[in-house]
Amino acid sequence: MFYDFYRGKRVLVTGHTGFKGGWLALWLKHLGARVSGVGLGPPTTPSLHSIIGDYAFEQQADCDVRDLVTLQDRFQNFSPDVVFHLAAQPLVRASFAAPLETLQVNALGTANVLEAIRRIESPITVIVVTTDKCYENRGWEYGYREIDHLGGHDVYSMSKAAADLIAQSWQRSFFATNPKLGNVATARAGNVIGGGDYAEDRIVPDCVRALIEKRGIVVRNPASTRPWQHVLDCLSGYLLLGARLALAEKTTPLASAFNFGPGACANRPVGDLVEEFLKAWPGQWQHVPPTGAPHEAAKLNLAIDKAAALLNWFPVWLFEEAVLNTATWYHERHLLNNPRMVEFSLAQIESFTNAARKNKLAWAQTSA
Ligand SMILES: NC(=O)c1ccc[n+]([C@@H]2O[C@H](COP(=O)([O-])OP(=O)(O)OC[C@H]3O[C@@H](n4cnc5c(N)ncnc54)[C@H](O)[C@@H]3O)[C@@H](O)[C@H]2O)c1
Repeated sequence: MFYDFYRGKRVLVTGHTGFKGGWLALWLKHLGARVSGVGLGPPTTPSLHSIIGDYAFEQQADCDVRDLVTLQDRFQNFSPDVVFHLAAQPLVRASFAAPLETLQVNALGTANVLEAIRRIESPITVIVVTTDKCYENRGWEYGYREIDHLGGHDVYSMSKAAADLIAQSWQRSFFATNPKLGNVATARAGNVIGGGDYAEDRIVPDCVRALIEKRGIVVRNPASTRPWQHVLDCLSGYLLLGARLALAEKTTPLASAFNFGPGACANRPVGDLVEEFLKAWPGQWQHVPPTGAPHEAAKLNLAIDKAAALLNWFPVWLFEEAVLNTATWYHERHLLNNPRMVEFSLAQIESFTNAARKNKLAWAQTSA
């Protein structure tokens, strides 16, 4: 149903210059939304934002989420119907180098976003993006559920658990009780892959950098399993939750936390991901065990029963399709130098949506 919902809606994305924020803005624009972006500049060079920014955004504003006064001003100016809060310091390793900044941006930044909206008393639906890492990781084989304990061995994970708790606290304390405000929900997704991610210390950008430079890919922990998911699968959950929450009553159970992970068969070791990637873009990889590396959980899965039951949300692309579409994007961009990457990215969104229609997913149906 969200295929029609966003047409003409004013939607604000924080962290709009990042990987997920870029794809989200592109998809929203494709759905007919009027999209604005708030955040800092692109976190990497190259970036997805340099490709899609001019096309996707009606307005963009520089603003640090630690700056409540400016944030409030931006929200007032843009007057959005829906806010997707993605701005963050999103890397585990970087949180070891900058723990306080990570906590300030991820936890207090989230409080600032919610507080800015509370102060302007506008009926905005808010989706706060946290992560699968916000759970207290117990090394379980089975997937974490929304009712499991939050935690975080490293500062990044802890800061996102804090952001999730902050969002739930603001919802219960302010949003749920004030008829002038909308509702808040949190979205916890898995390890996202897709074209246009150039972050340090993520396996797909590491593969791309090595393949472009024609050297072997260094893999630190090939046996660690992660819930791999294409960025469009994860965003379909955010978009569906946003639309359903916006249309729901004040007392809706949707104003809560949701996992958006892949099917169980996509919980695969890092080594499998690299092997699959190399099928589309041939090259070599080698296991180089980390020395003095920060702690990384060996196992992490998400249970998606709640999203299936309450939102009728299901993943679309299988592991192989997710990896193939990811590798194809980078191949197109960096080997074929396709100058029309906006169109290429939109074609991937259309192909994903067609696959969802084929699977008879309600969100992909349109009345047009
Ligand atoms: N990529 C993944 O696999 C993944 C998995 C789970 C959760 N997440 C979450 O998804 C969100 C987006 O992640 P991403 O991979 O697109 O990250 P990214 O690094 O590509 O983008 C981060 C964005 O946040 C902005 N930002 C950083 N610090 C800021 C500040 N102080 N004030 C304002 N803006 C600031 C950056 O400019 C950028 O636009 C994050 O909240 C992250 O924690 C990502």
